[in-house]
Amino acid sequence: MTSTTHQHTASDLFAQALRYEHRANPYPYYEQLLRQPVIRMDDGTWLASGHREISLLLRDPRISADRLPPQHQRPIRKSLLVEDPPRHDQLRRLVTQQFVPRVMGMRDHIDALVTGLLDAHTSERAGQLDVVGDLAYPLPVTVICELLGVPREDESLFGSLARRLTRGLDPIDTQTEDEIRELQQARGELVEYLEGLIARHDATGGDDLLSGLMHSQEPDGPMDPVDLRVTLGLLLIAGHETTVNLIANGTLALLRHPDALARLRTDPDLATPLVEEVLRYDPPVQMSGRSTLADIDIAGTTIPKGSRVRLLLAAGNRDPQRFADPDRFVPDRPDNAHLGFGGGIHYCIGATLARAEAQIALTALARRLESPRLIADPPPYRENAILRGPERLPVSFTRLVPGAGEA
Ligand code: HEM
Repeated sequence: MTSTTHQHTASDLFAQALRYEHRANPYPYYEQLLRQPVIRMDDGTWLASGHREISLLLRDPRISADRLPPQHQRPIRKSLLVEDPPRHDQLRRLVTQQFVPRVMGMRDHIDALVTGLLDAHTSERAGQLDVVGDLAYPLPVTVICELLGVPREDESLFGSLARRLTRGLDPIDTQTEDEIRELQQARGELVEYLEGLIARHDATGGDDLLSGLMHSQEPDGPMDPVDLRVTLGLLLIAGHETTVNLIANGTLALLRHPDALARLRTDPDLATPLVEEVLRYDPPVQMSGRSTLADIDIAGTTIPKGSRVRLLLAAGNRDPQRFADPDRFVPDRPDNAHLGFGGGIHYCIGATLARAEAQIALTALARRLESPRLIADPPPYRENAILRGPERLPVSFTRLVPGAGEA
């Protein structure tokens, strides 16, 4: 079903979508890619962009989460993100048992952190805020560090390592040699830091997630020190950069859709469906990857065993076969089964936490900033194509309304 011209077109379109000059709006390229929901690329990899097809592939047991190219050196121990059952399920159970109870009941604390961040930065620079640097970036670092058991004084070190490491998630062929070297350096620093942190926790104990994993009494526990280190590294990156982008992309959508902003200001219940719509309309994780363990017939074609497959989640989220008027931002969109957190056995573990942080941050921005305006539209974007979002998001406003409980 795929003519040579089509194959060329798909590879070219995908390359265009990844180009930095299209970072602010890759969606027109995805729209064209959606004309063929599953397609082979010139380099022999496959691309799935249709909502139905991605959903099927995410749930197909003939698919492996190991997405590295065959020639790539494998890490000695893989994180659960790229592991398959049964090991994936054992690791995931351990993390979920420790993670879920700690996240419940964090809303008030997140609310207090958001209030504090807005108060601090707006008093320094009246009338202007960088929503990324002043709110979207520091909030998830603090939350994830508290949750994991990273001491407060290490937060900025931890935060900057996460930043440096996320570039490693981009397709390897878009990275320069310098960037690859820099990544290896950052990985080394992270390993060293986490090993020190684990050793210190072993001595002191505590009631954070790291201590919980170390001393778990569950059938699959406790985690050994290598799994601990790999899992902490995953939670740090997965839990940080993604949430930064959700808050920033959500702010951008609100400022571009003043009706939605006005509604959120008076109706905080709108925050729930609105954050789901941000996860559909402008998702922080644009794509994921898999490899096939068998031939898979899908969308009138066959992906052969041993193929690498890219799942273009952000394209599936704009699939007109699944969503009415997919390019419109509809804050209370019904039946919003977006792919923003993936699906199947690797569905995001941190979804509840990320949702809470974004709902609280966006509601506070809507309530507290009077007459907010984007200073640059589009804002400058970060280099990353997969964990995609603005580098900075400067917003002007006329007044900071006091937070709840303030004078
Ligand atoms: C807006 C924020 C977030 C987004 C958009 C997001 C998105 C995703 C997506 C798409 C996946 C599936 C990847 C795949 O199937 O290949 C995933 C998995 C995962 N996420 Fe998130 N995530 C977010 C926040 C978080 C947070 C806050 C944490 C934890 C602190 C977290 C931890 C994880 C973990 C551990 C996995 C792997 C699960 C598995 O393989 O079973 N994420 N996330």
